Order: sequence, then C-alpha cells, then structure tokens
Amino acid sequence: MARSITMQVARYRPDREAEPTMQSYDVPLRKDWAILDGLNHIKDELDGTLSYRWSCRMGICGSCGMTVNGEPKLTCATFLTDYAPGPVRVEPLRNFPVVRDLVVDIGDFMAKLSVVQPWIIRKDEETPDGEYLQTPAELEDYKQFSMCINCMLCYSACPIYGLNEHFLGPAAIALAQRYNLDSRDQGSADRMDALSASTGVWDCTYVGECSTACPKNVDPAGAIQRYKLTAATETLKSFLMPRGGR
Ligand code: SF4
Ligand code: FES
Repeated sequence: MARSITMQVARYRPDREAEPTMQSYDVPLRKDWAILDGLNHIKDELDGTLSYRWSCRMGICGSCGMTVNGEPKLTCATFLTDYAPGPVRVEPLRNFPVVRDLVVDIGDFMAKLSVVQPWIIRKDEETPDGEYLQTPAELEDYKQFSMCINCMLCYSACPIYGLNEHFLGPAAIALAQRYNLDSRDQGSADRMDALSASTGVWDCTYVGECSTACPKNVDPAGAIQRYKLTAATETLKSFLMPRGGR
C-alpha cells in the first residue's frame, strides 16, 4: 500500500477571496486514519491556518461533517484508505454559507430545529408517580428518530433544501416526529403549523438522498412520508368535522 495520500482541501476566506481554491497536502496513509486524522495532521504538521470543526472523534457530536469526494460524510467515521490511492477531495458541506475553509454557518439549521419545538410538551405538568412511564413498544415507536446527532449531512444532501432555503428540512422534521410519536408528549398540535406549512413536509418530493446520507440511520425521508399521512388525515378530519372535530 502507498505510504501517503494526497488530500485536496478547500480553502476560502469569504471576506478576502472571491471564491474557494483547492490546496493539496500529502498525508500519511494509515489504515486506522480517518479523513479527520488527515486534516489534523495537516493542521498540526503542515499548515496551521486550515480551519474545520470537530470534537468527539467518535461519530457522536455531529460537528465534523464535510463533503468528501462529492458526498456528505462524517470525517471522523470515513477512512482515508477507502479513497486510496487518492487524491481525496475535502470540501465544506454543500447548501450552507462558508465561514472559512471547511467551516459552515449553521445558523439556519439551528433556527429550524427550534421551530419544531423539540422537547416534551405537556398540557398538564403533574406527574402523580414522579415520572411518565413508557413501554418498550412505545419507546420503539420514536427511538430511530432520536438517534439524530444534528450533523446536517441530510441538509447537505437534500436537493430541495439546496433550491429553497425556507424548506424546514429533513432533520428538523425527523426531530418533530421524535416528539410527536413519544407517548409522553402532547404537543403534536403545536408542531402542526410548521410541519404542514408549504415549507414543511409538502416541499419534500421524496428524493430520499437525506436517508442515504444519514450516518445514524435516522431515515428522515421516512419521517417526512409518515407525517404527510398524518397531515392528510388531519385535513380530511377537519373537512368531515368542520368545527375542529369537537
Ligand atoms: S437526520 Fe441523520 S443526517 Fe440528518 S442531521 Fe440527523 S443524524 Fe445527521
Ligand atoms: S468529530 Fe464528532 S461526529 Fe465526528
């Protein structure tokens, strides 16, 4: 096996440069090195000016998402050897403004998460037994959607979000479903306006790229399709019961 691999890395300072350029670095090709290890080698040994985000190095924090050879990936969970003999191209996540080099602005994503009120909503905060009990089957109903690490790979992969920044997007909708489907939650009506709006689930044309890109098998495309059924049923009910079902 070759002992090094060339990493072509996007460099960009939007306040000083008109467009990104690619810079090449040769890094050791070790079988236990992820793309992130290659970037850390560049930063530590070759060029301390390179900027990128990471934290946990174990696929949990969700901060190391980048575009690797054209695909959105967690760089701590993607190995250099998979791209041998190289070169391997590393660019920022698509569909987000670049702050510098491989760092993107996550402001729009953070705002969208809060729109869906991602917490347990109770009409009555009384807990007679000290906790809200839940069966394993009830847990199973939303567990998959709770595995999201907010890495934004799904937004980077989504062509609809790429065309329309107002689309609520895959992870926010999956997160809404994580709470809507939780037996302890009573807030699905509070989330309905955001989810049923024209920028909510109906913007999705079920391309499915979000679920392909997701490193945690959250299946946001499935969450969106499931909510479309819920929204359609609620609309039908409102026609049949014109006084809001009362
Ligand atoms: S749904 Fe998957 S791809 Fe999207 S933010 Fe969550 S973990 Fe990342
Ligand atoms: S560094 Fe935390 S998920 Fe990659």
